[in-house]
Amino acid sequence: MVHIKDILEGKLTGREVELKGWIYRTRTVGGKVFVVVRDSTGILQVAITKGEVSPEQFEAAAKALIESAVTVSGTVVADKRAPGGYEIRAKDVLVVSFAEKFPISEDQSEEFLLDVRHLWVRSQRMTQILRVRHTVFGAVHQYFRGQGFWEVHPPMITPAGSEGGATLFEMDYFGRKAYLTQSWQLYAEALVLAMEKVYYIGPSFRAEKSRTTRHLTEYWHAEMEQAWVGMDEAIRHAEGVISAACARVAEERPEEVKTFGRTPEFLKAVTPPFERIRYDDALKVLKSKGIEIEWGKDLRTLEERALTEGKTKPVVVTHYPVVSQAFYKRRDPQDPKYVLGFDVIAGDDVGEIVGGSERETDLEVLRKSLADQGEDPKAYDWYFDTRRYGSVPHAGFGMGVERLIQWILKLPHIRDAIPFPRTPARFSP
Ligand code: 4AD
Ligand code: MG
Repeated sequence: MVHIKDILEGKLTGREVELKGWIYRTRTVGGKVFVVVRDSTGILQVAITKGEVSPEQFEAAAKALIESAVTVSGTVVADKRAPGGYEIRAKDVLVVSFAEKFPISEDQSEEFLLDVRHLWVRSQRMTQILRVRHTVFGAVHQYFRGQGFWEVHPPMITPAGSEGGATLFEMDYFGRKAYLTQSWQLYAEALVLAMEKVYYIGPSFRAEKSRTTRHLTEYWHAEMEQAWVGMDEAIRHAEGVISAACARVAEERPEEVKTFGRTPEFLKAVTPPFERIRYDDALKVLKSKGIEIEWGKDLRTLEERALTEGKTKPVVVTHYPVVSQAFYKRRDPQDPKYVLGFDVIAGDDVGEIVGGSERETDLEVLRKSLADQGEDPKAYDWYFDTRRYGSVPHAGFGMGVERLIQWILKLPHIRDAIPFPRTPARFSP
């Protein structure tokens, strides 16, 4: 048994092979049926000629509808007329399962494709993205392990949030209130005092009603936390992991990249260091472009677009004003109006792909910030133990993996960066 990719790479020309797959497209011309078959690696034409297979087999192949499952044996030949330049001349064709009329045809609405997402994942578009996603996840693991980080795992069911109450998904936990995790933040700060350099990739949940092209309610979060370091080291790892993922995709998935309108060269050039700019200076740049925002406000799509305009690498914005920042970000000792926090902002309307900071270690400051934000510091008492027993400087970040994939492939919408997207409007199939 072979895969289509191997045939298209010319490794099997002239050989007898067996291929298993699904009918992607089919066309009958006189005494021939041309069946384009797909497998997990690509699509390939199979030419079935009357007389070269049994009459029953020919009839079955001629009437099988798209997405029927087939097994084909035959000879691989190079043929310029075939898509991809190769085809199989069939000697034996078995229809393993006759499909009913497939509900997806060309030109269907985005909404309908989301309704039948369980079938749409078979499309060339989705399988290409899934292959890139696979490569990105592999690259993140490889990067952190290569840098000496331990993979550790936080709980998903939690008693309190870390990113503010507004986006917490509440659940009933046997009569008590619990929440789905927004970030591993609080647990990372406990684990970092045990393992020093830790990372993880797992789902995060945000009850975010905003319907945008870059928000999911369930997304995959790649997070790191490191002891004995400050913000600069966290930024260095953010740049490192992003550039490692881009390089790996360029290396392993050049064909997919080209289909989506990027080039491997573009991705290979995403190397550290990225441009850095302080929040206050970013505001000046924006002002020079005619965009004014109130000091302390987060950057919105409009501002992120203006800051990344014409740039081929993401931009790192640092030193955000302390107002409206998460309680655990460290106040800048040089000027406590700011936090030692940063965001990595990507272009093409993807915006923030990473958010991170050095962490506040002063227990009283933490308590006060929580209270100022209307949280009950009592719910965080276990977390305060991380500051009571052997607290050390530490820093970390979280990266939205779908946002990174969206940017790498220049996808117009984040929902295609994940097989079964969860958005405010839908949680099925
Ligand atoms: O900026 P955020 O909220 O930061 C944290 O959660 C920190 N506790 C992370 C840390 O320091 N360990 O989220 C981090 C990243 C964002 O930069 C964004 O890429 C992604 O998570 N993200 C989302 N991605 C998709 N859909 C959403 N609704 C997202 N919300 C955040
Ligand atoms: Mg953020």
